[in-house]
Amino acid sequence: MSKLKGRSLISITDYSKEEILQVLDIAEGFEKNIRQKLLDQYVVASLFFEPSTRTRLSFESAVQYMGGSIIGFASADTSSVKKGESLKDTILTVSNYSDLIVMRNPIDGSARFASEVSPVPIINAGDGANQHPTQCLLDLYSIRKTQGTLENLDIALVGDLKYGRTVHSLVQALSLFNATFHLVSPESLKLPSAVKKWIGDANLKYFQYTDLSDVIDKMDIIYMTRIQGERFPDPLEYEKVKNSYILNNSMLANSKENVRVLHPLPRVNEISEDVDDNPKAYYFQQARNGVYVRQALIAAILGLK
Ligand code: CP
Repeated sequence: MSKLKGRSLISITDYSKEEILQVLDIAEGFEKNIRQKLLDQYVVASLFFEPSTRTRLSFESAVQYMGGSIIGFASADTSSVKKGESLKDTILTVSNYSDLIVMRNPIDGSARFASEVSPVPIINAGDGANQHPTQCLLDLYSIRKTQGTLENLDIALVGDLKYGRTVHSLVQALSLFNATFHLVSPESLKLPSAVKKWIGDANLKYFQYTDLSDVIDKMDIIYMTRIQGERFPDPLEYEKVKNSYILNNSMLANSKENVRVLHPLPRVNEISEDVDDNPKAYYFQQARNGVYVRQALIAAILGLK
């Protein structure tokens, strides 16, 4: 039985290296057979207080492929939050109707709070600019699948390293795997010191750049991110940096044969559509991997794997 049974997943740092690898191994089984009907008579709640395409729908897809039921809402506007109900009351109510709650919320720390009041496990599907641990697990799955290992890789993280929660989770996880980090961002969107400290504490190296072309040819993984306009206090600051990095096909001409371009998506302009047909582009397969990883996570937390 998995040691993850009954535990919430709020931050990727809640899991040890061994536990992360266990989820990835279970996910491989779901990739081989996506229709494992383990969730007969289980109900999963999906509470999205913030927009989502991939995370919400891949969780729903995961539950449905496993034969379970899913309830919830895709916008706070269709819930009693709109009438002023608190997060605590929402969680205590929904926990009466479900075995597990998946929640996305725009407030940093809201998922941790929910896990402290909830009698059923919570999976954090993104809390503000803080953490996105399930995206991290599918990123790791995608990296291991394409590179054959998670160890000793050169990883470029490009774009909004300040507000991009997927980057924060990924840096913390890859610090367990001896990565070398190449941090490419505008000056105003550098990786927060608290996240950089994870790299230092693991005795690993990071390098900072403002020019994307300085790193492309040396990388195993190029992880592009969207500049998160919705999190800028001042819209004028967003306007200054919104198109800082646009990766196109010709820029990949001298890159490593096995480099893969990842992006958590949605993209705005960060990757030109001419990259989509390049075998080095992996972002849509990455999104598909989200179904297998979320199936694995649900099965492990419910004690079914
Ligand atoms: N990667 C990701 O979180 O995408 P969505 O916002 O569409 O869920």
